[in-house]
Amino acid sequence: MDIKRDNGFGLAKQALWIWIAATLLASLVLWGWLFSSIAVSVDAWQLWVRYTARLSFFLFLASYIAAPLYELTKHGLIASLRRNRRNAGISFAIAHIIHLYALIAYLYISGEPTDMVTIIVGGGAYVVMFAMLASSNDAAIRRLGAVNWRRLHKFGAHYLAFVFVFTYTSGYLAGYGKPLILILLGWVAILLRIFVMIKTRGGTEK
Ligand code: HEM
Repeated sequence: MDIKRDNGFGLAKQALWIWIAATLLASLVLWGWLFSSIAVSVDAWQLWVRYTARLSFFLFLASYIAAPLYELTKHGLIASLRRNRRNAGISFAIAHIIHLYALIAYLYISGEPTDMVTIIVGGGAYVVMFAMLASSNDAAIRRLGAVNWRRLHKFGAHYLAFVFVFTYTSGYLAGYGKPLILILLGWVAILLRIFVMIKTRGGTEK
């Protein structure tokens, strides 16, 4: 089936609960593994903040590259990812809400100050993420209209991609030992979007 919709309607609604269950299970396993392998301490909470962001990063990447990848190849696996783009996006938001809980708990327990830039840029990203989550259903698209929906989700997707890649790249350059593979994945995803946007002259890039 050739997917040509550009209005964001859900294409694999029946699979949504599988994605959500898998995301919650992965988060639970992450929590269990982390807090059973090391003593509950500030360091453990800091690691949980990091690992929750890594889980949400992979789910975000799945939703961020689905449409541009599908533009380049109609391979079955990519077509399936394209059909599940909304499911991946909603699962990302759920995983990132868990990151929000983890970071609030960590900042409270550690007493570590948070700079204003992180609160404004990171907080703004959460506001946009919640708006994208709230509009990830067909009724909201009809209310918003396809053009406004596309504007919100295009801006939001790029803004979130920027925060992920900036956090990892600046963390790596500052010597915080952020995994290079995550930085490379982030930049490759952004370059893929730019490449497909130029290739399709903004036709189907979302
Ligand atoms: C007000 C909002 C936010 C605050 C206060 C915040 C705070 C934090 C803190 C304290 C850490 C752990 C730093 C460390 O010790 O390594 C962290 C890690 C991280 N955060 Fe957030 N964050 C916020 C929003 C976001 C958003 C919106 C994103 C992505 C769109 C994000 C992505 C990340 C990533 C990628 C990491 C690093 C994970 C790793 O080490 O692999 N954060 N955040």
